[in-house]
Amino acid sequence: MAVTTCIFDAYGTLFEVAAAARIAAKEPGREEFAAKWPQVAADWRAKQLQYTWLRAVSDTHTDFWQVTQDGLDYALEAAGLATADLRKRLLALYFELAAFPEVPKMLKQLKKDGLCTGILSNGSPEMLGGAVKSAAIGDSLDKVLSVQSVGVFKPHKSVYDMVGQHFSCQPDQVLFISSNGWDAAYAAHYGFHTVWVNRAQDPMDRLPSQPSYSMPDLTGIPELAASI
Ligand code: LAC
Repeated sequence: MAVTTCIFDAYGTLFEVAAAARIAAKEPGREEFAAKWPQVAADWRAKQLQYTWLRAVSDTHTDFWQVTQDGLDYALEAAGLATADLRKRLLALYFELAAFPEVPKMLKQLKKDGLCTGILSNGSPEMLGGAVKSAAIGDSLDKVLSVQSVGVFKPHKSVYDMVGQHFSCQPDQVLFISSNGWDAAYAAHYGFHTVWVNRAQDPMDRLPSQPSYSMPDLTGIPELAASI
């Protein structure tokens, strides 16, 4: 069936997660952080995601803002940089992340082409609201879906079920787009047409399914959605 609905992962896909640490590193008085920020950003993201998977399999759900703070606390302590000021600044920047440059035009084109658009994210509704607002992309999104309403993180099946429930479509009418290889793999396993946005040219994750498409950024999404 033709694609009617384009659903995007949020963090790392529409919003650039490393931007928080990169911006803070350029601020005056943060010389020590400037020397270590890439490692802090990588540890922060890795721990944040690991905590979501562990909380999902152990039935100990909490909201994504909590695991975002927990991941940051681990990363700052590992770098020997656990100060209240830096922590507060990084969290504030994470709350208002910028979108990747191609995002606004790409979303506008999807709406022009008559497609439904949405976000499906681990993010809490407050976090997603903050990022959508600061990126000024709310007008091009029909729905912003947070896992908070099902109480478990990706890649639990009940998260992907939310798309059909909210958009009244079948899995094969959905194009799901994520920069997280594991998210793209499980969305493909679920039955969505799936794009892995592989900006860093990482190897394919070894998981039960593989995404149908891979792209270096989001520019080609409208053309692909129209061709399926
Ligand atoms: C999300 C994370 C996985 O937005 O990036 O759901």
